[in-house]
Amino acid sequence: MACTGWTSPLPLCVCLLLTCGFAEAGKLLVVPMDGSHWFTMRSVVEKLILRGHEVVVVMPEVSWQLGRSLNCTVKTYSTSYTLEDLDREFKAFAHAQWKAQVRSIYSLLMGSYNDIFDLFFSNCRSLFKDKKLVEYLKESSFDAVFLDPFDNCGLIVAKYFSLPSVVFARGILCHYLEEGAQCPAPLSYVPRILLGFSDAMTFKERVRNHIMHLEEHLLCHRFFKNALEIASEILQTPVTEYDLYSHTSIWLLRTDFVLDYPKPVMPNMIFIGGINCHQGKPLPMEFEAYINASGEHGIVVFSLGSMVSEIPEKKAMAIADALGKIPQTVLWRYTGTRPSNLANNTILVKWLPQNDLLGHPMTRAFITHAGSHGVYESICNGVPMVMMPLFGDQMDNAKRMETKGAGVTLNVLEMTSEDLENALKAVINDKSYKENIMRLSSLHKDRPVEPLDLAVFWVEFVMRHKGAPHLRPAAHDLTWYQYHSLDVIGFLLAVVLTVAFITFKCCAYGYRKCLGKKGRVKKAHKSKTH
Ligand SMILES: *[C@@H]1O[C@H](CO)[C@@H](O)[C@H](O)[C@H]1NC(C)=O
Ligand SMILES: *[C@@H]1O[C@H](CO)[C@@H](O)[C@H](O)[C@H]1NC(C)=O
Ligand SMILES: *[C@@H]1O[C@H](CO)[C@@H](O)[C@H](O)[C@H]1NC(C)=O
Repeated sequence: MACTGWTSPLPLCVCLLLTCGFAEAGKLLVVPMDGSHWFTMRSVVEKLILRGHEVVVVMPEVSWQLGRSLNCTVKTYSTSYTLEDLDREFKAFAHAQWKAQVRSIYSLLMGSYNDIFDLFFSNCRSLFKDKKLVEYLKESSFDAVFLDPFDNCGLIVAKYFSLPSVVFARGILCHYLEEGAQCPAPLSYVPRILLGFSDAMTFKERVRNHIMHLEEHLLCHRFFKNALEIASEILQTPVTEYDLYSHTSIWLLRTDFVLDYPKPVMPNMIFIGGINCHQGKPLPMEFEAYINASGEHGIVVFSLGSMVSEIPEKKAMAIADALGKIPQTVLWRYTGTRPSNLANNTILVKWLPQNDLLGHPMTRAFITHAGSHGVYESICNGVPMVMMPLFGDQMDNAKRMETKGAGVTLNVLEMTSEDLENALKAVINDKSYKENIMRLSSLHKDRPVEPLDLAVFWVEFVMRHKGAPHLRPAAHDLTWYQYHSLDVIGFLLAVVLTVAFITFKCCAYGYRKCLGKKGRVKKAHKSKTH
């Protein structure tokens, strides 16, 4: 307050010092989720450690990438499965995506590969079996929990230890974000996830949107059946997903309104899309040499993400065929079997510096599975996309980018070699794609605070204030008929009907009186004339 009006640099320093001093160190519990989810959550955790907070990460001892070289206390618990089990189940899951795509809750529920989810759900049971660990957590008196809600465990931990929580997610499956945050999502223009609809839906799509919402209400709890059983067991009371999610203090959502469509939000939702974008670093020699050799045509970067390792052979050959028909050099991150028809402009690599390559001016296009990390790297660097979504939020991400003219979406199951070739030629040669993604890029980057700083601020806010109850809407305390004001509407309707009824009765009475008089007069008149 005292700083306003001062313009010399010295008071500015004082102000900065004051704001720094405000961030007193606290104690934070982190419950992460494995896989690509951890990539960005990790950057927030690292920054919180750097800022001097005492951070404890609780993770299963079997994992792909959790924990690695974090400079903080890491507590592991033993799991009921091995790394081989995890790999095998994930492979089965990824493999199934090449056969049929999940476009409804029903197909999600009926998926024959859902064992992977049950492995993740079982983590929490394992955590709470470790009595020493639970005792340690209880005695540590944390200020808050920072969690990825995917496997529910962080939500259960927050509730069990009665700690305020910060949820970190791209989105929440089913209707649990709307329910947990009490956020309205009108079905007329807010598409449900998995459908791949835009916000301008046809009548048929709006009908499908409603049915999807109904499916969520009817079927989602069955998808989370095992997770909820474990939660009820740990919390020793029957719990629903709503019970778990509605405990959340702050929602850190990895999206923004450059990627997503505008829609209603709540005051405890913070949008940190693009948190994974980094300043491009110089390229390793190997990749610089590929770019130098590509000449005036430049390069195309191709990656289906860290989670897809193998593509069915026929599909891989169709893709390789299309890649050979463009003049650009294609750098393809692929660890599966080398397609026999691979053209000489296509280079297979086991790994590539994706963000740095996308940041290079010679990069013409990005072929991606449209995972949110890749899409944001594309937005940040302004590279048009050819998108081949496979599962999760990817169909939706792709649709959003396509409707904004920043890329072309292909149905990976049905596309032919020509489709891919045409899509590539379109995004490379049609200037509008580049212009649109550059526009999105400048909109996305025009912001007062970097997403990483925003995320760190809100975690610290919850730690400082032991939650954010002032942001919690009173909607949580209402019954469903109160929320929709059905009782008020019913009451008012009753009043109006009663008034209408009484008025009608009075009029009818009055009318009858008048008529009666007239009638008698008439009658009297008649009898006189007789
Ligand atoms: C880890 O943190 C400690 C103190 O918090 C610091 O002294 C040390 O340099 C850090 N190590 C790394 C590898 O960052
Ligand atoms: C690529 O070209 C640039 C500019 O011509 C040059 O400075 C660089 O050394 C080249 N890199 C490689 C690996 O050939
Ligand atoms: C790639 O193959 C085509 C014919 O298939 C040939 O014309 C071209 O010279 C080859 N390029 C390189 C760099 O070997």
